[in-house]
Amino acid sequence: MGRSIERIETPAGDPAWWVGGYAEVKSLLGDQRLGKAHPEPAQAGRYSSVDLAGRPIGGSDTEYAEHTEWRRSMNKVFSPQNLERMTPVIREIATELAADLSSKNRPANLSDAYSTPLSSRVICLLLGVPFEDIEQFREWTAEGAQAADIERAMTGIRLLMSYVAGLMRRRQKQPGEDAVSQLFAARTDPSKLYEGRVAKLVSGMLAFGRETPASSLDWGALLLMSNPDQLELLRENPALMAGAVEEILRLFRPPAATREGLVRYAHEDIEAGEVTFRRGDMVLLDLVAANHDERVFPDPDRFDITRSPNPHVSFGHGFYMCNFTRLARAELDVGLGTLFDRLPTLRLATAPDQLAVKEHLRSGGLAELPVTW
Ligand code: HEM
Repeated sequence: MGRSIERIETPAGDPAWWVGGYAEVKSLLGDQRLGKAHPEPAQAGRYSSVDLAGRPIGGSDTEYAEHTEWRRSMNKVFSPQNLERMTPVIREIATELAADLSSKNRPANLSDAYSTPLSSRVICLLLGVPFEDIEQFREWTAEGAQAADIERAMTGIRLLMSYVAGLMRRRQKQPGEDAVSQLFAARTDPSKLYEGRVAKLVSGMLAFGRETPASSLDWGALLLMSNPDQLELLRENPALMAGAVEEILRLFRPPAATREGLVRYAHEDIEAGEVTFRRGDMVLLDLVAANHDERVFPDPDRFDITRSPNPHVSFGHGFYMCNFTRLARAELDVGLGTLFDRLPTLRLATAPDQLAVKEHLRSGGLAELPVTW
């Protein structure tokens, strides 16, 4: 293990602190002296000059108070009980998709035939959005998340946001059982800010809430197919699925605005080990490096479904921690369980070194996952 904290230069040429040690990442994720906002946004370091991500968001004085209020509304609608109710729905979708896949010509691309439609349909049902619109979000999300051309990214995001604005107008006029209607029913803040937050959440769900579970499913299938001893262990003892899900989450590339991790800015001077972050400094919290810290995860590159404890930080930690962890875990648990039950001879249809990661997308998904059975 190298150093836990290093001074680096971002692709935009600005200085930043890279943090990769598990203890340091976890403690800084829980530290409210760091935030997504910058105390003086015009002076903020940038991650990239051609990428929308890696810039400050909001005002540093109000960040935590406003977000606490918003999370309260979010938690009401997406409570653990409400998300739990999605499990039978996920099972139904997975069963139908696995049956379709088994009747397809071989080899097939698991990502297009299974993982992506599964997570997309789950989000559409949760938000009450028609399945036919999925292709549009996929295109807009891919454009919005590519990190090479800021104009293209803006166009993708604008199209997604205008779709979401239309959806919100319809739900406000004619509420239903869906999450968008419930978010309006749970409104405590009468200001326009609330609508902006709903819009941001819904577009985030249509984008990353769809892409990330799909890419974790692809990586999960790949890890199980390329570690037959672990797959055998799981078949002998299906109760090990919960451990397999955690180990997949630890080893896949969780979403982050930048290749070096989640972006934060110091709101005041902070002592971090042997260094001091100065007020305004950019700090990159690397979840992938933290999940591979051998002081916490012995033999970190090994895929071990019996690993215990497995306190990975793939959902983040603290104030901004993902509040859809139940849904994401259920998609992996039910999605992979159904897939390997229905297609017990499922295997990779290409050499592992031929697999490419979607470099342009922050969700870190595989470009394609050819399988046969
Ligand atoms: C394998 C699946 C997933 C992983 C690994 C994951 C990971 C993460 C991480 C690391 C964060 C924290 C970001 C930060 O601190 O800056 C986060 C936040 C968030 N995630 Fe997830 N996520 C997953 C699935 C989902 C799904 C399915 C949804 C929605 C349907 C979702 C919605 C969100 C939202 C709204 C936040 C922001 C929370 C806030 O701002 O307080 N995620 N997620």
